Amino acid sequence: MAEQKATNVHWHEGDITREHREKLLGHKGATIWFTGLSGSGKSTVAVELEGILHEQGVICYRLDGDNVRMGINKNLGFSAEDRAENIRRIGEVAKLFVDSGQIALSSFVSPYREDRDQVRALHDEAGMDFIEVFVDCSLEAAEERDPKGLYKKARAGEIKNFTGIDDPYEEPLKPEIHLHSDKQTLEEEVNEILAVLRDRGIINK
Ligand code: ADX
Repeated sequence: MAEQKATNVHWHEGDITREHREKLLGHKGATIWFTGLSGSGKSTVAVELEGILHEQGVICYRLDGDNVRMGINKNLGFSAEDRAENIRRIGEVAKLFVDSGQIALSSFVSPYREDRDQVRALHDEAGMDFIEVFVDCSLEAAEERDPKGLYKKARAGEIKNFTGIDDPYEEPLKPEIHLHSDKQTLEEEVNEILAVLRDRGIINK
């Protein structure tokens, strides 16, 4: 957990709460956290899901590893320490989206269990839904796809600490949803997530 550095700071409560905003929007806020190897299909599933939810009038926002690393997290690399900070910041950002009543769709490799569990704990403390989606895909399949040509570079030694090659990926032990992107269709994957959102009363359609 990051240390609280600033002293003499006080939380300022407003009049409008998450419940008010959720009532206005007609659905609940939640974080859907996609984790898996680079090239496993996290962003593909998130984009498809976002489109379907949007059509249903559900407000969502995607937070994506590559995009976020060009902005708020441009000062972070891929050491274990930097990855932990990357995930911590995104966890906090996702919480802000949930507080605003929206569904945050976060796609990050997030290879370390401890980092993901800390984000989960932050949501639990705030009474927010955190749905971990393990986008499981064999390394062979991800490497075969290699949409950005990064596995090829990692194999050639041009990228160090690449997840799955010379850096670890710790699989979730109890994810809410376990997808197999090398065996399921995109439609099946999205339907599984939608079913969980309905079961939990996050969306009602
Ligand atoms: S995380 O480990 O901190 O969660 P994040 O999801 O933000 O990673 O970024 C991963 C993306 O950065 C990958 O999809 C890939 O495009 C790119 N990338 C560049 N270098 C690495 C690396 N060493 N390990 C994993 N992904 C990398």
